[in-house]
Amino acid sequence: MAQDQTFTVTPWEVKGRVDYRKLAEQFGVKLLTEEDIKKIEKLAGDSHHLLRRGFFYAHRGLETIIERIEKGQRWALYTGRGPSADLHLGHILPWMFTKWLCDRFNVELFFEMTDDEKFLVRDLPLEVANRYAYDNALTLIALGFRPEQLHLIIDTEDIHYLYKIAVKVAKCLTLSTIKHTFGFTDSTNVGAAFFPTLQISVAFLPTELYREEAPVLIPAGIDQDPYFRLARDIADRLGYPKPCTLYCKFVPALTGEEKMSASRPETAIYVNDDDETVRRKIMNAFTGGQPTKELQRKLGGNPDICVVYRYFMAYVPDDNIVKKIYEDCRSGNLICGECKRMLYEHIVRFLHELREKREKARDIIHKYRISSKF
Ligand code: TRP
Repeated sequence: MAQDQTFTVTPWEVKGRVDYRKLAEQFGVKLLTEEDIKKIEKLAGDSHHLLRRGFFYAHRGLETIIERIEKGQRWALYTGRGPSADLHLGHILPWMFTKWLCDRFNVELFFEMTDDEKFLVRDLPLEVANRYAYDNALTLIALGFRPEQLHLIIDTEDIHYLYKIAVKVAKCLTLSTIKHTFGFTDSTNVGAAFFPTLQISVAFLPTELYREEAPVLIPAGIDQDPYFRLARDIADRLGYPKPCTLYCKFVPALTGEEKMSASRPETAIYVNDDDETVRRKIMNAFTGGQPTKELQRKLGGNPDICVVYRYFMAYVPDDNIVKKIYEDCRSGNLICGECKRMLYEHIVRFLHELREKREKARDIIHKYRISSKF
């Protein structure tokens, strides 16, 4: 758990204004350097905006993966989701980057849907959490993954892939470690205390399935670090390669808080929001603009604190477009209303395409299940 006077970050809660440098320090993860990024770009033969704009910013053991890429050795990607009804744009950001890694490095992604976790730590019936796992998987597939690239694990249905690893993991972790790492207490249910072994197990699964050493690279929100710190601690003892991680910052809430919140609808844009809802949310967003149009023209705005600008950074890959918005905002040429309309158009186009692809994914979801391949 990382706690500070001003912010709290745990796998279940993000509160306050996160100081990302401090958070990396508290978690004990390394900051991504310019050289790291250059190396990835060189090996990928391409650049990704989330990397060059600092969204992915910290890691554990990235050098291991870089070395394996250089030597042409086996590795895999791993990420996941606690399925829920309110999948929003912040959730899919790391998935988009993960898709890029899949394509550029020709590696497979193991994706865990933790319907069990949602049942154990949230107030959600198991059957409902399970249904969301299928629903959320459609959105994941809609990002363009091919069946041979993506292996979908639904915890409650695919447990036999994980259980043998999980019991070994569980034996290495004491109750006291779990309590301290996740902030659990004596009144936490034992399922929640056991659950971390499953999230850790997937990190070791590719080595079992490929029958050769295959460390994973885990692109994830930095709030997931506690799991993988433990995984790295015990990997050696179990004879598995240490998992490596690449962490991203959160997409800020439209209302200006640090993170989009699934429980406060106005803070986030959901995959299923209709156009009018998206329009309203963007129009009400927190900006770096001046109080009046006249002042904006005269003084210019401040994109560095503007949530709308942050969304352009996150969801518009074209540097020229983003740079022009920055400059036009600073100079007072661009007023917030216009800027928001441009963002609205971009987001709505993206969502329409995504939903269309989601519908197409319905008939082929079985091809992505891990059980259809291993
Ligand atoms: N615990 C994650 C969540 O609540 C889901 C998850 C499982 C995950 N495995 C993961 C996230 C690996 C990132 C990487 O969303």
